[in-house]
Amino acid sequence: MEFTSFRKEKVFKRGRGGGDPQHLEDEALFHELLKRHEEIERITTISDNGIEVKTIITSGDLKLVKTLQDHALGMKKRFDSGRAIRSWDPLFIELFDHKDEIKLSAQMLENGIKVSLSSEDPRIRDLINRHDETLHAFIRYGFEAAQHESPYRPK
Ligand code: HEM
Repeated sequence: MEFTSFRKEKVFKRGRGGGDPQHLEDEALFHELLKRHEEIERITTISDNGIEVKTIITSGDLKLVKTLQDHALGMKKRFDSGRAIRSWDPLFIELFDHKDEIKLSAQMLENGIKVSLSSEDPRIRDLINRHDETLHAFIRYGFEAAQHESPYRPK
């Protein structure tokens, strides 16, 4: 699928990221993850106020491990500096609008990344769970999932 054509049909509700140079770099990272989704595994455990997740590269390719880590940290930096991404997708608009209500801590692993996401607020925990489901779908279906609003739930 030619990715650019689909982009034109979407409405970017929190501003188009295309303009900022960092966007192309960020996009290159998650395109690589989507392309090589079969080499990625994600394990989610429920914690008191949220989830603990390990996302690992099962192929052992250290370059892809770095791509994953750079992606996760890059997205957090992007959100922290008030720059949205994928804002044609309602879930990513919600994530961006409530970014300050999600406590996120990350720990680098040799083969991936461990992240805990939490909130006292049950509505935000629901958002955290839907984002988690979204990432599981990205890992399971790759670009097929990324072309749909999140979380992708094939019939
Ligand atoms: C197979 C593909 C992908 C993988 C493996 C992946 C992995 C991750 C991981 C590990 C995190 C850290 C938080 C967490 O673990 O829940 C994360 C956060 C995030 N990712 Fe991805 N991602 C993928 C695709 C994408 C795509 C296509 C987008 C959007 C265009 C995206 C946007 C984000 C955003 C916005 C965050 C959250 C930042 C925050 O709340 O600080 N990811 N991703």
